[in-house]
Parts: sequence; C-alpha cells; structure tokens
Amino acid sequence: MANVTVIGAQWGDEGKGKIVHLLGKKADWIVRYQGGNNAGHTVVFDGKHFVLHQIPSGILQPGKKCVIANGVVMDPWALREEVRFLESRNIRVKGRLFVSAWAHLILPYHRHLDALRESGEAKIGTTKRGIGPAYSDKVGRMGIRLADYLEPDTFRELVEQNLKVKCPLLGGLISKEKLLEETFKDYDDLRAFFAEYVADTPALLQKALAKKANVLFEGAQGTMLDVDFGTYPFVTSSNPIAGAACVGSGVGPGAIEEVLGVVKAYTTRVGDGPFPTELKDAMGEKLRERGAEFGATTGRPRRCGWFDAVVVRHSVALSGLDAIALTKLDVLTGIDPLRICVAYEIDGKRRDLPPMTRHGWERATPIYEEMPGWRDDLGTARSLDELPAAARKYIDRLSALVEAPVTLVSVGAGREQTIRIGDF
Ligand code: GDP
Ligand code: IMO
Ligand code: MG
Repeated sequence: MANVTVIGAQWGDEGKGKIVHLLGKKADWIVRYQGGNNAGHTVVFDGKHFVLHQIPSGILQPGKKCVIANGVVMDPWALREEVRFLESRNIRVKGRLFVSAWAHLILPYHRHLDALRESGEAKIGTTKRGIGPAYSDKVGRMGIRLADYLEPDTFRELVEQNLKVKCPLLGGLISKEKLLEETFKDYDDLRAFFAEYVADTPALLQKALAKKANVLFEGAQGTMLDVDFGTYPFVTSSNPIAGAACVGSGVGPGAIEEVLGVVKAYTTRVGDGPFPTELKDAMGEKLRERGAEFGATTGRPRRCGWFDAVVVRHSVALSGLDAIALTKLDVLTGIDPLRICVAYEIDGKRRDLPPMTRHGWERATPIYEEMPGWRDDLGTARSLDELPAAARKYIDRLSALVEAPVTLVSVGAGREQTIRIGDF
C-alpha cells in the first residue's frame, strides 16, 4: 500500500474512523496530525463499537504503531482516559502509541476560555474542548508543549507566565488558585503516564519512511472546518486539508503518495455557520434519524442536508484528492427523489466554487438537480453490481460533479459493509 492521507471532505463526521480502520490493516503506522479531542471517530467491527478522540483509529488494528503528532493539541487528562478505556476493552496501547514531545497541550484555562467565548454573541458552536484557545497559544508563542510539561520547573514557570494573561481574560470567573489547582491536578501521575508514551515522533516517522514502512495519515474534522479554506469564522482552529499532514507530523511532502477524501452521501454539520443545503424540515429529521446523526463527541444533533457538490469539489481541489470513499449510502434508501446541489446561485450569478466572503455564504442558494432514489436495503451489498441501478447512477453522478473517482462505497457502519472498487 502507498502512504495515504485520509481527510474529511465536508464538515467532519464523514466516517473517517471506519475508513482509516479499514485501510489501517495494510499500514504499519497510523498518524493523527491535527485537531484534538474535538474529534470523535467511530469504528464498528465484530459487534464492538469504539469512539476515538485523540488516538488514531489504527490502534484497533492489532500490532500497528500509532502516533499523536506535533500538529495535534492534546488534552493530557482526556488522553489518559482514552488509553485507560482502550485497555479496559483489551486493546493494548503501551508500546504502540507514540505521543509527540512537540505537541501542544490543552490545559484547563483553554477549556474555560472556550466556554467563555461560547457564552457570548460571537459563538461558533464549538465542542468546548479548548481547541481554539490552545491553538491560539501555539501561534501566539505562549503554548506549552509536552516536552516542557514533563519538566516540573519549566512547566510551573510557563503556567505562571500564562496565568498572568489568562486570569484577566477570564475576568474573575475563576480564581487563580482554582486554575492552578486544576492545571496541576494529577500532575505527578500524568508525568509518569506520559513518560511511557512521549517520543520524538518526526524522527520515528522519518526512520520508518526511510525503511519503506507504510504510513497512513488520519485527518480529523473536514475541509469546510479548515481555518483557511472553510466557512470562516465557523471553523476549527487547525487545517484538516491534506497539506497539513506534512507540517503536522514533520515529514516532507514527498512522503505522501495518495490522498483519499471521505465523503458522506449527503451532508451534515455540527455547530453554527453556513450550510446552504441544510434541510430544516421532516426530510432533515429523517436523515438525522436514519443516519443516527448525533455528535460522537458532544452528542449534539447534527444538522442534515442534501449532498453539496460545491463543497466536495472545493475539497478535491484543495487536498488534491486522488479518490473518494463514499459513506452512508445506505441511509438514502427510500428517499425519492434525491436532490444534489450542483452549484450555488449568489446574487443572481451561478457559482461552481464556494464564495470567499461571509455575505456570499449567507446569500448562497443551492441549485439542485434531482435523481431517482431506490427502495432496496444496501447493507448487504459487497460489490457495485449488487447495488440497485439508481444507486450506481447516484454514485456516478456525484463522482462526475466533483471530478474524482469513487474507489470505496460504505453501506453500513460495520467494517464488512464496504464495497471496494480498485486498489484502495
Ligand atoms: P468521523 O468523525 O469522520 O470518523 O465520523 P463519525 O464517527 O463522527 O460519524 C460517522 C458515523 O457514521 C459513525 O456513527 C459511524 O459508525 C457511522 N457510519 C460510518 N459509515 C457508515 C455507513 O456507510 N453507513 C451507516 N449507516 N453508518 C456509517
Ligand atoms: P471529526 O474528526 C464535526 C466543529 C464544531 C464547531 C467547530 C469548531 O469527528 O470529524 P472546535 O471545538 O473545533 O473549536 O469547534 O468545529 N467540529 C467538528 N464537527 N466533526 C468534528 O471532528 C469536529 N471537530 C470540531 O462542532 O462547529
Ligand atoms: Mg466525528
């Protein structure tokens, strides 16, 4: 297998966990390179159900090595919890998980600042995990990296410096004493815990690549949540597009040979912000119920809508997607006709690509095309010819509209509910 980067091509929750888990079978290393525990990646196999937040989905494939790379922001308490949870389910993590010494930490004041911002008018609908404030500190050169966390004197000094800035921002909502208590909670235990996992992950990956190991890069979130190219400011604070895999893990661009975009057969979004094809009616409710569209991290109901080719076309271009893994096609059974947004109309003009302004997004009206639906249950199909003709036509039309081949179709949450086309 080539070294592949898997990204979400819409607003997240496309089914990346399932696809990475599947492809992980052929990989030696699986690497998370951005985001934090805002992510919730679901993997279902052999009647088991896992949701991973910070640890790559590859951890569920026995023997594979997994990396939480430098580009991730990592919550120490949440990571310890995730490791404990996996070990309680007999998944061995020790010796297989490597956490970058260079990764920045999410500390309690980041979560408080996130919650504070979310309580105001400029709310984004974040996961309140402290992601934005942690990344702000990183680029603002006030962040604390795992390597520094592990040195008690350095850590204490950096926290003191930070609290001089954070306490006034938090405006008396929480006292300095309380923040210190939260920040140092379980510190000795966490230091001992991380001593087993911390690593110079760029060096590990560079060595693995030199030995021709197969590396799979697991993106989190999705293109439309990208801080540069998404529906700014209703985005996350990292770059979910494929280009970030190199910066986020410390390998050169030549290391990545293929890019696969995970695309849901319709569209969902959690949190606030533009969503031109959103269905606020019974059809939206139907998609939510049939697709079990509730956030894997926060449990919030996901907003649902028709497939938006403008969004996926944007993704194909930005990440240079070689191919698409189309998920949740089974959810569309019984919906007839199906609608596909082929372009937007903005101020009377047709647009094939997303607008660049906030006003453009507010005024974007979908231009729809209709296609006949199908009635058959797709969950047992394992090849394209086992799909109804209308489902095959739907796949072909999406592929043509977004200008990328579909190499995998997912027809259920289970690992085996997959149709592979070609080599992927
Ligand atoms: P991720 O964040 O991209 O990994 O996606 P999530 O795990 O947040 O959300 C995807 C949801 O859809 C999960 O509950 C998966 O188990 C489920 N899922 C994945 N693929 C399929 C599919 O083809 N059909 C159905 N019905 N469910 C799927
Ligand atoms: P996975 O990897 C869907 C959304 C939040 C909010 C915005 C900013 O499971 O696809 P943040 O907490 O990141 O500052 O919130 O981004 N968001 C996601 N939506 N899937 C995710 O991850 C998401 N991670 C963040 O809902 O709108
Ligand atoms: Mg998710």
